[in-house]
Amino acid sequence: MPRDRTPLIQKIAQQASLSFKDCLSEDNGDHKPLPDQHEQLLSLVNALRAADLKLAPRKSSSSSSSRPGTDGAQNPPVTYMHICETPVFSMGVFLLRSGASIPLHDHPGMNGMLKVLYGKVSVRCFDKLDSEGVAPPAFEPPLSHSDVPSLCRSMLRCVSEYSPSSTACLLTPQRDNLHQIQALGGPAAFLDILAPPYDPDNNRDCHYYRVLQPSAPSSEGPEETWLLEIPQPEEFSCGGQVYSGPPVTV
Ligand SMILES: [Fe+2]
Repeated sequence: MPRDRTPLIQKIAQQASLSFKDCLSEDNGDHKPLPDQHEQLLSLVNALRAADLKLAPRKSSSSSSSRPGTDGAQNPPVTYMHICETPVFSMGVFLLRSGASIPLHDHPGMNGMLKVLYGKVSVRCFDKLDSEGVAPPAFEPPLSHSDVPSLCRSMLRCVSEYSPSSTACLLTPQRDNLHQIQALGGPAAFLDILAPPYDPDNNRDCHYYRVLQPSAPSSEGPEETWLLEIPQPEEFSCGGQVYSGPPVTV
């Protein structure tokens, strides 16, 4: 039997097309992937290593380096290597400098898979909670009235560390949908699959959040957390980088 020479990343793209193909259908309001296909996708993604994409950690992680990002910005803390995008899913690699962080953000109505390729990242995940009829507590420092519509009641779900030997970190429209990602102890890179992709014209824009500090402990327990939607933080920028791994066609 001839050996299958299809690159793993191409298999992942094909399988993602199958797994998520019904996510946008009208009778799939929760945007759920197909379970059997999703299991296959997960096992392919869990097998992916940096070498499969011809990726290696950057030699210098020094913040004094003046190497410009490929988008012309000086030294962006994070760069994104776009691999492919269809109406069903998007796929790319985020590369984080040592200590860099992707601020807390959401993926409205989307599924996600994050697989670390090198380095180590800490992922802090939140769920949005229903805030109907729940009065927010007082915060330190106090919020202004104009901030109240941007408040979001949530729950800290987990803080977990991922390395290349870890299985993929998953998110769904309902669970672990908000996250903050930080590179620990050096540069890091992870494959990111989102389904369906971000699309501001269809209520799938990316929003950023700040965790608020209540001035007294929450009566709902330590899990309840209030977030404030904020503009993209100034200290965060994401440059572009050309993908140089095996070609992917979907
Ligand atoms: Fe994300």
